[in-house]
Amino acid sequence: MPSSQSCFWTKVFLLYEEKSYGRKEIGMRHNLEKIRDEAIENISKVKDLEHLERLRLKYLGKKGELTRILRGMGDLPAEERPIMGRLANEVRTLIQVQLDKRRKELEEKLLEYRLREETIDVTVPGKKIERGNLHPLTSVCNEIAAIFIGMGFEVVEGPDVELEYYNFEALNIPESHPSRDVQDTFYITDEILLRTHTSPVQVRTMEEKDPPIKIIVPGRVYRSDDVDATHSPIFHQIEGLVVDENITMADLKGVLDVFVKELFGERTQTKFRPHYFPFTEPSMEVDATCVTCGGKGCRVCSDTGWIEILGAGMVHPNVLKYGGIDPDRYSGFAFGLGLDRIANLKYGIDDIRLLYENDIRFLRQF
Ligand code: DAH
Repeated sequence: MPSSQSCFWTKVFLLYEEKSYGRKEIGMRHNLEKIRDEAIENISKVKDLEHLERLRLKYLGKKGELTRILRGMGDLPAEERPIMGRLANEVRTLIQVQLDKRRKELEEKLLEYRLREETIDVTVPGKKIERGNLHPLTSVCNEIAAIFIGMGFEVVEGPDVELEYYNFEALNIPESHPSRDVQDTFYITDEILLRTHTSPVQVRTMEEKDPPIKIIVPGRVYRSDDVDATHSPIFHQIEGLVVDENITMADLKGVLDVFVKELFGERTQTKFRPHYFPFTEPSMEVDATCVTCGGKGCRVCSDTGWIEILGAGMVHPNVLKYGGIDPDRYSGFAFGLGLDRIANLKYGIDDIRLLYENDIRFLRQF
C-alpha cells in the first residue's frame, strides 16, 4: 500500500478510535504501536547476538519499554484494561517472535562463518618440532661406553661428593703425598670433598664386588683450577678397572689398543710411555697417533705426531688391599681418560670453555 494511502487510513482509524475510546487509551495504543514498529525495524537491522540481546532487554526486559507502558494500565478505565492488555500481549509476542527469528538467523550466520574460517586444512604441512641433539660430551661418552661394553665391561657410577678417604687415602695417596697438591679441590669438610678424579670408584667397586671386575666409570670431576682454554674447574673422566686372576700388562695394552683404534680409526697406533701414578705400579701414559695429522706433526700435536690420551697402569697392591682384594691371588689394570680432551680432539674443538657455555650455535653443530 502506498504510504500516502496508509497515512489516510491511519487517520480514519484514529478518528474512529477517538470516538470509541478516550485520549489515554489512544495514547497508550500509539505508544505500543510505536514500540512495535521501532522494535521490528531495529531487530531486522541488528548484526550480532550481543546487540540483539541488548534490544531484547530494551523492549521486553523488566525495565524495558513494554513493561513501562503496562505499568500505566492502572490509569485506564476498568473496561479498557483487558483490551489494552491483549494488545500489549500481542506486541510482546510479535517482538519475541522477531527476536527469536533474528537470533536463529544470526546464529546460523555465525556457524557458517566459523565453519568457513576455522576449517582445518589437513594438507598444510605441520609445524616442525625442533629436535635437540646430544651434547658432544654425552655423544663421546656414549661412544666410548659402547666400545667398552662391546669388550664385556659394565658401566658403574660413583658420587661426585666424595670422602677424602676414597679420593686419596685408599688410592695410596696419604695425607703428606705431593700428588695431593696437583689435585687441589673444593672441600666441604676436612673429610668430604668434590672428587678430583673418577678413580675413587675403583675401591668403592672392589669393596662391593668380588673379581672378576670389569668396569668403566664415566663421571664429572672437580679441581680448583683457573679457567682457560684447556682448564675448567669441572670436567669429565672415564675410569676403567679390570681385576681378575692372571691379569697382566698384555691385557692392559691389548684392551687400550683396541679402544683407541675403535675410537679414532683402525690405522691409529698407540705408544705406552712410563709414567708415575700413586695407585698403579708400573704406571704409564698412553699416546695415540695424532687424530688431526695422522702422525706427521701439526699444531694440535705440537709437531710430535702423538697425542696423550690417557693414564694407565697395573693396580697397585695397596689399592687392591684397600678394596679388600688379595693381591697375591688377583691382579688388575686401571686407566683414566679425560673425556673433554677426547671430545675436543674428535670434533676439532680448540677451547674447553665452549663445552660449558651452552651456546646453542655451538651445540647445534654436533
Ligand atoms: N686418576 C688419574 C687422574 O685423574 C687418571 C688415571 C691414571 C686413572 C692412571 C687411572 C690410572 O686409573 O691407572 O689424573
